[in-house]
Amino acid sequence: MKKVRKAVIPAAGFGTRFLPFTKAVPKEMLPLVDTPTIEYIVQEAIESGIEEVLIILNTEKECIKTHFGNNPVLEKFLQSKNKLEDLELIRKLPNQIKVQYCYQQKQLGLGHAVLCAEEFVGNEPFALLLGDDVYVGDPYPATQQLIEAYQKTGCTVLGTLEVPYEDVSKYGICIPGENSTSSLLLLESVVEKPKQEVAPSNLAIGGRYILTPAIFQFLKTQNKGTGGEIQLTDSILRLMSKEHVYSLAIAGKRYDIGSKKGFLEATVDFALAREDLSSDMQNIINQRYKK
Ligand code: UTP
Repeated sequence: MKKVRKAVIPAAGFGTRFLPFTKAVPKEMLPLVDTPTIEYIVQEAIESGIEEVLIILNTEKECIKTHFGNNPVLEKFLQSKNKLEDLELIRKLPNQIKVQYCYQQKQLGLGHAVLCAEEFVGNEPFALLLGDDVYVGDPYPATQQLIEAYQKTGCTVLGTLEVPYEDVSKYGICIPGENSTSSLLLLESVVEKPKQEVAPSNLAIGGRYILTPAIFQFLKTQNKGTGGEIQLTDSILRLMSKEHVYSLAIAGKRYDIGSKKGFLEATVDFALAREDLSSDMQNIINQRYKK
């Protein structure tokens, strides 16, 4: 069985749920305290053993590239001021992994964005991490959990979470086979954004996947689906005619940074989790609560 060495991070969408901010700045650059969302995602990939990362961009999102590259002028400045901790902070990631990029010319949907990664992926299984979903995996990173499930099954694995039924129409939803009880389930079907009344389950695909390269042959011929977009879920459904597909309930907490509520929740939680900020954040919350 081939090792999962590569990760793809689509970040080419328009981020309309976060306008007006996303008019000029990608939502993947929204900071959680002081670090852009997409850096947490690249970090998760590294901690999960990924060796190569491809970020899918559009031409308006060059600042993501700037963030992951070296900045000699700033480095020189920090050095001259003897700000060595800051220097280490901005050098750390470029030294850890070489991030590669490709461009999605038209925002035709997630399925189309993934298809742009075909050349980078080649004939290997790969991890897919959506650029606006942040996980705090418990006890270890979400992608690592999925890679372990892939190693057991040799098949595509979709990371899932249970969502309230009123939210199922925002997600790809999984339909497990009969007698499925463990957290790793063999799936019977998947459906993109079903209406609440007809939703077959509340097991939502939560922005993390291990995909086999067979997905590309289906993406290439995929018709538009829900919302007029080329949907990855539709191609996964077609992949099921050829290969088994599993779901794994991811252990940990997910934040949907592309939504305002998810961003606010993550901001509070990430500040509370920081040694240097937790008591300040706690005080802010307590004061508001008293009022
Ligand atoms: P979303 O549907 O959350 O992103 O896609 P969006 O379309 O940018 O956001 P809204 O709904 O308008 O607010 C999940 C991920 O897939 C990427 C997005 O950048 C996001 O990280 N994506 C989506 C693409 O790369 N290309 C697309 O055509 C669509």
